[in-house]
Amino acid sequence: MLRRCLGVTASIAGAIALTGCHTLESSFDVHGPAANQISHLETFMTVMFIVISAIMWLLFAYAFYRRRGDLTEHAPIDAGGGEMWIAVGGLAIPLVVLSILFVWGLDLLRAFPIHGMHGDSNHHTMAHSMKPDILIVGHQWWWEIHYLDDDHSKEVTTANELHLPVGQPVNIRLETRDVMHSFWVPQLHGKVDLIPGQPNYVRLEASEPGEYQGQCAEYCGAEHARMRILAIAQPPDEYEAWLNAQRRPGAEPATDAAKAGRQIFLAGPCSMCHTVRGTPAGGSVAPDLTHIGSRQMIAANYYKNNDAWLEAWITHAQSLKPEAEMPDLTHFTGEQLADLVAYLRQLQ
Ligand code: CUA
Repeated sequence: MLRRCLGVTASIAGAIALTGCHTLESSFDVHGPAANQISHLETFMTVMFIVISAIMWLLFAYAFYRRRGDLTEHAPIDAGGGEMWIAVGGLAIPLVVLSILFVWGLDLLRAFPIHGMHGDSNHHTMAHSMKPDILIVGHQWWWEIHYLDDDHSKEVTTANELHLPVGQPVNIRLETRDVMHSFWVPQLHGKVDLIPGQPNYVRLEASEPGEYQGQCAEYCGAEHARMRILAIAQPPDEYEAWLNAQRRPGAEPATDAAKAGRQIFLAGPCSMCHTVRGTPAGGSVAPDLTHIGSRQMIAANYYKNNDAWLEAWITHAQSLKPEAEMPDLTHFTGEQLADLVAYLRQLQ
């Protein structure tokens, strides 16, 4: 029996490994100042929960073993001073604990301004300090990411992979194109909702280089679970190099396969929804693919970005992510498909 359980566990683990599935890291494993602040409250809540639960269970066990019998054998509660239990355990302790949590929570909220700029007339200092560096737009079911710049020609659009310079706070404006979503990278910050018509702000800072898994944290439809984001914190010079590389237009295909692939991409349905800068493909309803080859994952950070998953995604997106906007494109020949993937993979 045990062996069978282990076998099942191993196959589940294997299946998870095969899909390239990444689990969210714990919000106790903090890698940034905001997450660090939140984790203190979290630790306090967890410890209080454990202590109070333990006391409750001990009292319960005590009451259970102290005396057996039915109601008629027991004194009514007002005969033995039992009101104290209600006054202290039911009112005083919850009042103290909940008041501490309430004040602490309000204080934390104040530390994380989520409303940055309500129109240009707002000259509050926070408005200035929350000038966004990055705009993230939520879609069913992926993240559109714009790296903003006063010089618009330097702006870059990408998707599902958020790069950050280590040790520098980055102001992010959060919008949604459709329903409510919630931006959550547990190791860096708490959740901040993306609300239609109401931009919110979050200031992200990673204290050390690394990759931090994120996940949409507000139910937003069929593929809510496959709406992930990967935050990659890099040393500032590496980040700048990455950003400069992203500013370049899509790579010119060098091989015959990639050249043929570009033809297919531009002539087929791909270019109606996707953009590859430097080509006529300028669709804006789907992720920008100018540097798709540089990203680790596809389908909102869900499947590995390799030949096999790309081919599967192009032909059977509706099986891999039912109800996503990406249709099944089953009309390509095997060679056309390979060319198309060759083109996408060299868009580094
Ligand atoms: Cu987007 Cu849940």
